[in-house]
Amino acid sequence: MNQAVSNTSPNASPQTIYLKDYLPPAFLVKKVELDFRLEPQNTVVTSRLYLSRNPVYPDPQAPLELKGQELKLLSIKLDDQPLGEEGYAIQADTLKLAGVPDNFVLETQVEINPENNTALEGLYLSSGNFCTQCEAEGFRRITWYPDRPDVLAPFTTRIEADKTQFPVLLSNGNPTEKGDLDQGRHYVTWEDPFPKPSYLFALVAGDLHAVKDTFNTASGRQVALEIWVEKENLHKCDHALASLKNAMRWDEATYGREYDLDIYMIVAVNDFNMGAMENKGLNIFNSACVLADPKSETDAAFHRVESVVAHEYFHNWSGNRVTCRDWFQLSLKEGFTVFRDQQFSADQHSPAVERIQNVGLLRTAQFAEDASPTAHPVRPDSYIEINNFYTLTVYEKGSEIVRMLSELLGWDAFRKGSDLYFERFDGQAVTVEDFVQCMAEVSGLNLDQFLLWYSQAGTPRVTAKGDYNAAEKTWTLTLKQETPPTPGQADKQPLLIPIKMGLVGPGGQPLPLEVDGQHLGVETVLHLKEAEQSWTFHHLEDEPLPSLLRGFSAPVKLDYDYSRQDLAFLLQQDPDGFNRWDAGQRLALQALQELVAAQQEGRDLVLDAELIASWQKLLEGEPEDPQMLAELLQLPSEAYIAEQYDQVDIDAIHTARDYARKTLATALYPDLLRLYKAFNQQKPWSADAKEAAARRLKNTCLSLLVVTDTDEALQLAEKQFQHADNMTDQQAALTCLVHAQEANQGEAALAQFARQWAHDPLVMDTWFSIQVTRPHPDALQRVQALLEHPAFSMKNPNKIRAVLGAFAGQNRHNFHRRDGAGYQLLADAVIQLNSLNPQIASRLVLPLTRFQKLDDYRKDKMKEQLERIHKQDLSPDLYEMVTKALSA
Ligand code: TRP
Ligand code: ZN
Repeated sequence: MNQAVSNTSPNASPQTIYLKDYLPPAFLVKKVELDFRLEPQNTVVTSRLYLSRNPVYPDPQAPLELKGQELKLLSIKLDDQPLGEEGYAIQADTLKLAGVPDNFVLETQVEINPENNTALEGLYLSSGNFCTQCEAEGFRRITWYPDRPDVLAPFTTRIEADKTQFPVLLSNGNPTEKGDLDQGRHYVTWEDPFPKPSYLFALVAGDLHAVKDTFNTASGRQVALEIWVEKENLHKCDHALASLKNAMRWDEATYGREYDLDIYMIVAVNDFNMGAMENKGLNIFNSACVLADPKSETDAAFHRVESVVAHEYFHNWSGNRVTCRDWFQLSLKEGFTVFRDQQFSADQHSPAVERIQNVGLLRTAQFAEDASPTAHPVRPDSYIEINNFYTLTVYEKGSEIVRMLSELLGWDAFRKGSDLYFERFDGQAVTVEDFVQCMAEVSGLNLDQFLLWYSQAGTPRVTAKGDYNAAEKTWTLTLKQETPPTPGQADKQPLLIPIKMGLVGPGGQPLPLEVDGQHLGVETVLHLKEAEQSWTFHHLEDEPLPSLLRGFSAPVKLDYDYSRQDLAFLLQQDPDGFNRWDAGQRLALQALQELVAAQQEGRDLVLDAELIASWQKLLEGEPEDPQMLAELLQLPSEAYIAEQYDQVDIDAIHTARDYARKTLATALYPDLLRLYKAFNQQKPWSADAKEAAARRLKNTCLSLLVVTDTDEALQLAEKQFQHADNMTDQQAALTCLVHAQEANQGEAALAQFARQWAHDPLVMDTWFSIQVTRPHPDALQRVQALLEHPAFSMKNPNKIRAVLGAFAGQNRHNFHRRDGAGYQLLADAVIQLNSLNPQIASRLVLPLTRFQKLDDYRKDKMKEQLERIHKQDLSPDLYEMVTKALSA
């Protein structure tokens, strides 16, 4: 029994955890002392837990229960007395000690195997370095522990390892002791004074090098900043470091939040399941979210690094100082922190463009999740595997909920609520209600109905109707709301939906809003609470044009019967930048849906002249805001077009968008060419926002120009590819060449690019993605070939995302091939990953669960593959997703 490795998880019968069953922990941990003897194949972890009974726990005789997975127990002692096998019981992943005193020290010694750990949870090796990932439940793969977020303790961590192989030894908090040992070994001891849950524990050991700096906090303390990377990446750290300092300053200025420890470290690792992790004082990052150099990374990558660095930093308060009571409350930290990082990015860049991009993701991917078998509320009420709930719903819709609160309260009150929250709950593990209660207290608003946003799944549909009464000079707006049923939630209640709006006059002027004798200025936020509600606006000389849901003030689908002329007008005139863009998207959608219908009814394809004319107008003269213009020149994605239908016609949508792009590019060719040349300044690269905006507009024009297949356009792309001094331009040009109909130039360019960048795994990720997103029928064969490429590995999540994720997510019509080969290929990979990395397998399977709106033929093909996966001995992760999908 002692020697057995406990619970290899794939065979455990999956158990459902319910929010309603929450009980506080029976024991608290007063402090933790950890000792690591690091060896790749047999690391020994000794843990001393200072335990005491939790006085609020209902049963004063309750046994102690600890969690553990894949641990080989070497010894266990209670108050330094070794326990025999009769002294404890291990069942599945639980270790039980009955009849223990109220206060005692439990010492366990276990052996683990980091080298074998391909799940990348717990302690594992990445490129020969030790690192950890403990959120959500990875700490139980390191040692026996009450591995739940409401058990907080100060940690002391001693790390011992071979000094040559692992010269750098890091953990949370401050280093307090270090020294050399016999046989070329050394040790470092770290102390983290802030009580924290085990999911925030981190350890790193390896041959790493640091870029160092300092930051002086608002109250005058000096903080050491360190970014640890492999030696060859030292030149890629400047941007992350600058972003970190900006984020620290911003959180002081905007939320009054200061950093608390003396040191803040970031470590870049190549094998990582997600983007990054906010471990206290020792963030661990996917190298793709920290490394950035203009030669090898795009402007988009620079933006991602800035926002992820900020996100993890902001967690120090929203997540670490105040944490979650249980994992159902995940959005308490993630929704709030995403909102904070979006505010930060909006302050660093263009607020309208940031909003457009965030909403773009929400409206395609999160809305699709809401309409799928895996739909769930922002606060789920049950789960089998918590890793399955790090979703767009919890993160992005969760952020929208916090944004709505900030709009309902106004910034000043919201900030007061935030201050109250951090002050009242500092050092505690709390709930969504605790957060919302602070917002209610400082504002006097009743937020009871608002709380439904956390518990009710699905995307509400708001239908708006306007009625102008010329005799009375009034305009009445009627809003109806309805949320469609989702799995397990048949009946929905009306939500409190903030609708920010204005009225636009015939000359484009904002009209004063007067309702019930109240003057509301030219913009207001309507509180839609009922299933149906009306507002009458007075003193309107002419029929107004409504601009509704400005800035996307709520995560809903809003329908209003706009004419094309209305939309073309709003596209040019709406004072709200987001709504200008949205008017353009609505106009384009009408045109695209018409092209879909034309194919289904066997008519000729004709693109709406109003759309062409509107784009023509956008291109006239000198652009005022090149970045915004680049956004306005994007047609809705195939995924977003699909969102508009109950029954999706994959091929018709692809053809419609393709045809629209070609037609627009042909009609606007001279203007696109003029703009391309104007913004293709032959200046050396600069990080400056204006320069980045110029690159974005120029490359948008180029990608449109090449769809016309003229030699001229292809030559421009070739020239840009050959002469680019930065990855933004090089990658954009390569994509144009590879995605062009005839791939001759593309093949040569790909080979050249691979020779140039073979040494850089992050750039090779791009090289993979560009090929698998090629919109031509050979895409699937390319994916198959690339899976055999020496630079590809099933053990590296970034590579899986670059090849399989990009193919299934961004090459819709090829993934959905009628012969089902796309589905089969994905299912093969999922089955392979089931045993290697369950967390990644469970994400990769998602496209196979999105069959609800497909034709019966494809639906059957998809379900066939799900059935095939279901027959395997599944990890709890995949089991939960696949059974949900098959029972929908
Ligand atoms: N908390 C991390 C974040 O800020 C998410 C995360 C990183 C994570 N790695 C993980 C979640 C592994 C689950 C498993 O977004
Ligand atoms: Zn986060």
